[in-house]
Amino acid sequence: MAAVFTFLLFTALSLHHVSAQLASYIVHMDKSAMPKAFADHHAWYSATVSDAAATAHLHAADAVPDLPYLIYVYDKAIHGFSARLSASQLEQIKRSRGFLHAYKDLPVELDTTYTQDFIGLREDRGIWPASHHGKGAIIGVIDTGVWPESQSYADDGMPAVPARWKGACEVGDNFTTAMCNRKLIGARSFNRGLLAEEPNLNISVNSPRDTDGHGTHTSSTAGGNYVRGASYFGYGSGTAKGAAPRAHLAIYKVLWREGTSTADVLAGIDQAISDGVDVISISMSSRSTGLYDNPLAIAAFAAMERGIFVAHTAGNRGPDLTTIRHGIPWALTVGASTTDRRFGGTVVLGDGTAIRGGSLYVGMPPSIRLLPLVAVSDCNNETLVLEQGRNKVVLCQQPLHDLIDNWLYPPNTAQRARFPAIFIATSYKIETNSKFDYPAVLVTPADGARLLGYLNNASNPKASLRFRKTSFGTRPAPAVASYSSRGPSRICPYVLKPDVVAPGTGVIASYVPSEAMGSPFEVQQGTSMACPHAAGVAAMLKALHPDWSSAAIRSAMMTTASTSDNTGGQISDPARSRDSASPFDMGSGQLDPNRAVDPGLVYDADAGDYRRLLCALNYTKAQIRAITRSGIKSRCSDASLDLNYPSFVAYFDPVGAKPSVVNNRVREFRRTVTSVADGEWNYTAEVTPIDGFGIKVNPTRLVFRKKNEKQSFTLRMVRRRKMVYRETAYGWLRWVDGRGGRVVRSPVLAASTRSALEQATT
Ligand SMILES: *[C@@H]1O[C@H](CO)[C@@H](O)[C@H](O)[C@H]1NC(C)=O
Ligand SMILES: *[C@@H]1O[C@H](CO)[C@@H](O)[C@H](O)[C@H]1NC(C)=O
Ligand SMILES: *[C@@H]1O[C@H](CO)[C@@H](O)[C@H](O)[C@H]1NC(C)=O
Ligand SMILES: *[C@@H]1O[C@H](CO)[C@@H](O)[C@H](O)[C@H]1NC(C)=O
Ligand SMILES: *[C@@H]1O[C@H](CO)[C@@H](O)[C@H](O)[C@H]1NC(C)=O
Ligand SMILES: *[C@@H]1O[C@H](CO)[C@@H](O)[C@H](O)[C@H]1NC(C)=O
Repeated sequence: MAAVFTFLLFTALSLHHVSAQLASYIVHMDKSAMPKAFADHHAWYSATVSDAAATAHLHAADAVPDLPYLIYVYDKAIHGFSARLSASQLEQIKRSRGFLHAYKDLPVELDTTYTQDFIGLREDRGIWPASHHGKGAIIGVIDTGVWPESQSYADDGMPAVPARWKGACEVGDNFTTAMCNRKLIGARSFNRGLLAEEPNLNISVNSPRDTDGHGTHTSSTAGGNYVRGASYFGYGSGTAKGAAPRAHLAIYKVLWREGTSTADVLAGIDQAISDGVDVISISMSSRSTGLYDNPLAIAAFAAMERGIFVAHTAGNRGPDLTTIRHGIPWALTVGASTTDRRFGGTVVLGDGTAIRGGSLYVGMPPSIRLLPLVAVSDCNNETLVLEQGRNKVVLCQQPLHDLIDNWLYPPNTAQRARFPAIFIATSYKIETNSKFDYPAVLVTPADGARLLGYLNNASNPKASLRFRKTSFGTRPAPAVASYSSRGPSRICPYVLKPDVVAPGTGVIASYVPSEAMGSPFEVQQGTSMACPHAAGVAAMLKALHPDWSSAAIRSAMMTTASTSDNTGGQISDPARSRDSASPFDMGSGQLDPNRAVDPGLVYDADAGDYRRLLCALNYTKAQIRAITRSGIKSRCSDASLDLNYPSFVAYFDPVGAKPSVVNNRVREFRRTVTSVADGEWNYTAEVTPIDGFGIKVNPTRLVFRKKNEKQSFTLRMVRRRKMVYRETAYGWLRWVDGRGGRVVRSPVLAASTRSALEQATT
């Protein structure tokens, strides 16, 4: 083993020397000049590059052959490719048939927590300058605590602690008040609930200090300060920052390594409310049967009544429908999406073909030299792997189905053997960033087929691996993350959930170093990572519009969300094998903070509206009281399931439903919108048709003479055909202001009752 290691290290050094001579170029080609001998443009470009390398090698004074490789082959935006090339190789390519134009790849701003850049946050325009980066807003994070030494909590550039702040920095194990500052303005911990259940428990670090990393990750994502030169072992290097980098953070540690208790969670939220936070971010789930026994829902109600915005996670139980556990009607429910950034490794084959795959391998050396490539039929068979894989790169032929569950430690022998390995992912799970602790790369099924094709045809198949690669421009992106929980929410299916999606995959943020192999930053994925992005944006909206209610802020985030990806098509949902994500998958779409600043119209709602919803859910007075903490008198006379919400969901009986669950053909919604722009504005309704449904909006034109004026309308859905079981059909209602270009968009969704309602009512 020691001999192998030395050898690999030596190779890595020489590889480093070679690759220093290569640069990335984008090469435009005339596709019509492609010789007929080539099956397709991909083969032609590959041949162009390898021919150039061979010729350059013949003429080069330097005897060390530089291995060029294709980075991308383009066929839509441009015809051509990008490649790593030496200067002499580029000169040869310029003489190739069909060559048009080449230029050096421009440096990309590699930004850690690039997810903020991906949702459009910019220093020079939009919500960041408009809200002064959330200056003065206070975000309360209910989680596993904080690692105060992280640079994300440095307070340079931060304004003074707001005078209204009533929170505190509690002293405890390895935690002092000196650890708080103008960024980290509060830190408290709650474990009396846990100790009540297990009195003999020894809490190892009894203070707000994070020993897990989760809370440090989520809070730095929501409101962390700028940290230059951040990366996870070289992956995604750049400047780390939160969504609202000038917001203050208050941390409530309620989850413990030793266990958790609902009581502690409630205590944390309770304290955050009285301390005076503006926004609460909750990245956790709890089991419940109704809103009345859901601690998060109950605590969120109290927060909402005080104008505190609550963002919570949809959950990581996707991709099936009805996997959202709560979906709190008075909070923002955030699902997760992917970005166009990938962390990975590059497989370079003996013929120079380069294939990018996913990997977060951080070991040394960061590359594996060209070794024989061998396909092993069963990588779970240790004997087989040891027999066939020694001193080779192992290509595992069986697909890795369970990657999500076992993504840290895939159950295969190659791990123990620690041979360099290439795994073929089942289609969509390539999104996962694979934390292999041995040099391995995860490739798509299509690339897997290419690898096998090469392996079967080449006389002496070889492959080398290169790690710590960060790439951008993956298409399509964003896409709904496979693990993101889908609607409808079981506990209240009448309010369409999730509300929005935000980046949750491949998010880099601060961490507890000991939990991240010594790195101050860590790559994580989950709706836990998506939620704080939304919380940070809400904090900025709150700083900008202090008079807006939580419902108004949520409405602004929902009606301005984006439904298109970087291909120009509608956001896709690869895990559900459909062309486009439905509102049960992505809600109103991907969070678009800059547009949320000026939504035009908002769908507002107050505590009274939510009470009427609770009445219509047929909750008992005691159950309602558990949520609202106040009596309801005879108020249930105006019960209504039709909450003034910026989305519409109607349930219909599917074919052959006996007994009928809803027994309806028509569903009518009544909504009221408030103009939040100065001056006079007119809006016209546009509805995208839903096959088999008639949709009528009345009136189709709304006139607002001044700011804060309200107008009401009805939306009527008429079913003209039967729905099948578990069917969802949807379209969009857009209120369009012809003058200012605002589009206030809501999903309109018809679902057959099987999807959730039967479970909810039985
Ligand atoms: C206490 O905090 C320091 C950082 O200030 C850290 O290095 C140390 O590991 C912590 N100890 C415990 C027990 O958490
Ligand atoms: C907690 O620590 C004390 C003293 O170190 C020890 O006697 C006790 O057994 C520990 N309790 C548990 C539950 O581990
Ligand atoms: C593992 O591979 C060896 C060698 O090819 C073979 O003899 C053995 O039967 C395999 N074991 C299993 C469980 O498939
Ligand atoms: C390999 O050979 C097979 C037939 O022998 C052919 O169908 C396939 O396209 C070849 N693959 C590559 C990558 O050349
Ligand atoms: C509440 O009860 C009424 C009367 O029994 C019933 O018509 C209605 O469907 C129930 N609502 C829900 C949401 O279950
Ligand atoms: C709005 O509509 C009214 C009535 O149709 C019209 O008089 C007015 O000029 C319109 N205002 C704007 C800003 O388009």
